[in-house]
Amino acid sequence: MTEIERADVDQINNALNPQAGKSKPIAVLASNNKRYLLKKQLVDLPNSSMFDEDSVFMQELLVYQIAVYLDIPVPGFAILNIEEEFIDENRDYLFSQHLKPGLYFGTEMLPNVENNLVDNYIQAIYHGKPYIIKSWNTYYRNVVNSDMYADIIALDCFTLNGDRFTNEGNLIISSNTQKERKVYAIDFGHCFFSPCWDANKMALFHGLLDAKTPEDYQEFSKCTVRALLKNSVDNHPAQGFGQIFRAMESNIDFSNGNPFNEIVTRISDISDSTLSNMLKSIPSEWIVGSEIQLDMYLHFLSRQKLQVQSMIDIMNNLGAFSNSLGGKLQWQTDTVSGMQL
Ligand SMILES: Nc1ncnc2c1ncn2[C@@H]1O[C@H](COP(=O)(O)OP(=O)(O)OP(=O)(O)O)[C@@H](O)[C@H]1O
Ligand SMILES: [Mg+2]
Repeated sequence: MTEIERADVDQINNALNPQAGKSKPIAVLASNNKRYLLKKQLVDLPNSSMFDEDSVFMQELLVYQIAVYLDIPVPGFAILNIEEEFIDENRDYLFSQHLKPGLYFGTEMLPNVENNLVDNYIQAIYHGKPYIIKSWNTYYRNVVNSDMYADIIALDCFTLNGDRFTNEGNLIISSNTQKERKVYAIDFGHCFFSPCWDANKMALFHGLLDAKTPEDYQEFSKCTVRALLKNSVDNHPAQGFGQIFRAMESNIDFSNGNPFNEIVTRISDISDSTLSNMLKSIPSEWIVGSEIQLDMYLHFLSRQKLQVQSMIDIMNNLGAFSNSLGGKLQWQTDTVSGMQL
């Protein structure tokens, strides 16, 4: 595992701030001369109170590492430090942003992101403008790495991330200087169904860790798929799996066999020591629940990696994959029973 990059925040570049996102990440220049979007843990709620997403950095750093390990395209990322002196110089702005000295999670700013376009498409679709559908469908198809959609869906199942299926801001397309369009997954702060370490998170983890029989494990998968879909349905009724999920799945190719085979095997092969090293690299100030929190994430992921296959099977039965040739998906390795088929 390569070292995680660390740098100091040297400058704020407000003009580059994205408009999207609840936490409104801030564009900064860091001491390693790279531009980052710095995430915040305190989020402004519409009723003008603040909400402390106490595990958002911890989950971002953990799942970014998992994504890199699985070769899923994500921007570069770093642990960014805001020093006391920096706060002194930028006091008013940083105060209004609720920023204090300390460590923050940041992702390297991708060039030429096409976000606003997606927003326009989605607005048009909601407002019943059917002619837009054709260009919307090609929007996600014309990328150089469309084989990644299956991998991203499998990662979202593994990490219980319902924050992409309907959230157009969390799957972004960036073009390089050769004008090649490439899709990236970002924003893992709301994985495991919430950005917080609390009784609900512990109950979720126990739901799997206390399972004993094959039926218990199957029931856990059913509940988690239901919860992922509920996220989608609540946000945008009548969209079923969610607009972004639909955009991803409609670009998954089933003509050469089960497109989830490789990624599901790779996830189930992640070792405990790999997971443990990822958890160890998280700064202790981001871990509100001390060793217990780290231990529970390790044990949970170590078992959840075997659930992805059944989650995808359940989704398939629910008609999630429109290009599927029908019937059951064929698996090379049965990760549920650990059997080579
Ligand atoms: N590395 C990056 N490069 C380019 N743009 C980015 C990057 N990271 C984030 N953005 C832009 O900023 C937006 C918000 O970022 P992000 O999703 O990380 O924040 P958020 O506040 O957690 O969002 P939300 O909670 O609404 O999902 C993204 O939708 C994207 O437009
Ligand atoms: Mg987001």
